[in-house]
Amino acid sequence: MKDNQYYFDVNRKTWNKRVALHAKSDMYKMDSFKKGATSLMHYEIEALGDVQGKSLLHLQCHFGQDTLSWSRRGAKCTGIDISEEGIQLAIQLNSELNLDAEFICCNVYDVNNFIDKKFDIVFTSYGTIGWLPNLKPWAKVIASRLNSGGVFFMAEFHPIVWMFDYLEKPPKLRYGYNQEEVIYEEYSGTYADSENEIISKEYGWNHGLGEVISALTKEGLVIEYLKEHDESPYQVLPDLTKVEANKYVTKDKLYPLIFTLKVTKP
Ligand SMILES: C[S@@+](CC[C@H](N)C(=O)[O-])C[C@H]1O[C@@H](n2cnc3c(N)ncnc32)[C@H](O)[C@@H]1O
Repeated sequence: MKDNQYYFDVNRKTWNKRVALHAKSDMYKMDSFKKGATSLMHYEIEALGDVQGKSLLHLQCHFGQDTLSWSRRGAKCTGIDISEEGIQLAIQLNSELNLDAEFICCNVYDVNNFIDKKFDIVFTSYGTIGWLPNLKPWAKVIASRLNSGGVFFMAEFHPIVWMFDYLEKPPKLRYGYNQEEVIYEEYSGTYADSENEIISKEYGWNHGLGEVISALTKEGLVIEYLKEHDESPYQVLPDLTKVEANKYVTKDKLYPLIFTLKVTKP
């Protein structure tokens, strides 16, 4: 039987291969990012407001564009990610852009072995918890790294979205809303560039909203809001219609595409 370490290693290798491709993809718009454009979406900008002078821990930061976008808004940022390539590029971008973020390569479950300071804000977004088999250790890390009065904000694809197998055409309803069993997918290309030739091998897990909320409240965190949105800022799924910049919808809007969640530590 394969264990979590095996799944994390396969995923880490896939993410390592993606970094260079994503960095030059249309989706990540590196040139305009380097010239000062933010990679953040309005959901997180509005939710966190003025971050000037606040400390911010970014979980699963990929190659750091969002972390560095928060730095440009005045936050003192630390980004973590399991991918060595991602962290290496994030560090390079940080120095090229003369910013002051720190980056640490580690599994989100192991953050407390690497970081002992506390933060005003913990942030994670778009494509993160699906890489984690269990949300309890994730929620423990969030609660333990927040200052009293601190805020955790996440923007994430809705669990309903992950019930479909998009390798089928048309996508097929295949996976459980709360599926404990691991899901394995192997395909060529990535969400940021379906034409590239890398083979993505990935292990993932579906977490329903009840599981997300219960993991966080069990750690003593208090829910400020949970919102479900019919639109997505990314065209990560097939057959979405672009209605404006950074806004994609399904044809019939039968189910939400993302959720946003804001939580505080008393
Ligand atoms: C979809 S990306 C994050 C999205 C981010 N908003 C972006 O597009 O820049 C998911 C990230 O999670 C990281 N990741 C996956 N499993 C992880 C784990 N167990 N611990 C830490 N990072 C992990 C991957 O390396 C990847 O960089």
